[in-house]
Amino acid sequence: FKVPVAVNEPVKTYAPGSPEREAVLAEYAKMYKSTVDVPLYINGKYVKTDNTRTMSPPHDHKHVVGTYHLAEKKHVEDAIATALEARQAWADLPWEHRAGIFLKAAELIAGPYRAKINAATMIAQSKTIHQAEIDSACELIDFLRFNVQFMTEIFNDQPASTSDAWNRIEYRPLEGFTYAVTPFNFTAIAGNLPSCMALMGNVVLWKPSNHQIYSAKVIMDVFEEAGVPAGVINVVFGDAAMITESVMASPDFSGLHYTGSTSVFQSLWKQIGNNITNYKTYPRIVGETGGKDFIVAHKTADAKQVATAIVRGAFEFQGQKCSAASRAYISKSIWADVKKYVIEDLKTITLGSPEDMSNFMTAVIHEASFDKLASYIDSAKKDKNATIIAGGNYDKSKGYFIEPTVIETTDPKYSTMCTELFGPVMTVYVYEDKDFSKTLQLVDGTSEYALTGAIIATDRYVIDEATKVLQNAAGNFYINDKPTGAVVGQQPFGGARASGTNDKAGSAQNLLRWISPRMIKETF
Ligand code: ALA
Repeated sequence: FKVPVAVNEPVKTYAPGSPEREAVLAEYAKMYKSTVDVPLYINGKYVKTDNTRTMSPPHDHKHVVGTYHLAEKKHVEDAIATALEARQAWADLPWEHRAGIFLKAAELIAGPYRAKINAATMIAQSKTIHQAEIDSACELIDFLRFNVQFMTEIFNDQPASTSDAWNRIEYRPLEGFTYAVTPFNFTAIAGNLPSCMALMGNVVLWKPSNHQIYSAKVIMDVFEEAGVPAGVINVVFGDAAMITESVMASPDFSGLHYTGSTSVFQSLWKQIGNNITNYKTYPRIVGETGGKDFIVAHKTADAKQVATAIVRGAFEFQGQKCSAASRAYISKSIWADVKKYVIEDLKTITLGSPEDMSNFMTAVIHEASFDKLASYIDSAKKDKNATIIAGGNYDKSKGYFIEPTVIETTDPKYSTMCTELFGPVMTVYVYEDKDFSKTLQLVDGTSEYALTGAIIATDRYVIDEATKVLQNAAGNFYINDKPTGAVVGQQPFGGARASGTNDKAGSAQNLLRWISPRMIKETF
């Protein structure tokens, strides 16, 4: 069959007075005033436990918007058992039915659930409407649509045959169940990881971040309404270490699809290694982890363009994107202008609650993140080799608000040039114009990560040099742009080194990890 041609969902602008703005504001107000209770979801049923926690908006942390239920070991074991029971029927269902379910899920988010998923993301993950629209609506819709197209491209990839031997590949799901562990910072990633594995015929245990539960609930509702059968995607919340231990103790564990911190991913990988003789099949391991993403600006770059790349690359989404720019290397001769434009731009940036749609930024996700960022800012205030040139204030009395902060350092290995902070802090190192080539080596050698990076220059030889020298420094490399904003179907996303296994999210390459092809040769 041919499937509908995947198209990127247009991003709505939420202009004042527009119906979409009114709809999301109404939904936000309703959800803010009431409370939601989010149980586990096992075998198509909501399961309450005796252990609950409250959910609060990061921008208003004393306010409670709901509760969620924490799984115990028995719930995890039930979820695994139920997934394994559902497996054969789901794996045997012709692929077009799986495609139909997830295409319907895309349309439900594009239509009736759009305001709700955006409002949930704004409230419980503190995103502005524009951030929520790009993430929880458009990117998730794109993942769902494009994955169907990628799946059919994979299925059409068949070997050559001869007149007396017909060779064919059957793209089967993995044998066992798969495990999706998803982060708070992208509702789209949370929705994509379990659904792309399920689309390929796998059954899934999904553990969302404890800070993304409100929008996870909306995704669960969408999947249920779209027709995902009971047992195919099961959702548990709670203590990640306990859940993971139960998952990995099962001989039927067959794949991990993870997005989150490098240290947790490495510990999961070790656990899989330690259990390797217990598994029926070698588990697939796919992870997208940290980043220390860079912007390099050459002396031939336009200073205004560099400033825009810094402000948008570092501070959109509160800097809580794995792709967010957090270190910049700027040529001395353009720095004065770049600095002037950055400071001017930052004066126009407003920080506050998402219900005020004019705000450009909101709060960071939780107190631990706030405290970490504040402590690095405090150090920069004291350290001789660092100067705060913009921002530097923070306040957690109502919400976890950190001003967009730019640190200038004279030390290219200064702590905030090397450490992933995951928040609105950008550090700039100014290099002598003549040291451009040396600086590229520095960029490559400074960070253990290799997720995103950008070169801004007009000289084509310089662009070529940076592209070559930084070939292993970023899985997504941008020329004359900020290093963020990858669009599904246009820029497949992922990095290597400590940033992950580089199995590009939103690509056929990623989906290939969730199938175990069977080669059939039939002789006549
Ligand atoms: N895909 C997101 C971006 O590229 C993380 O910014």
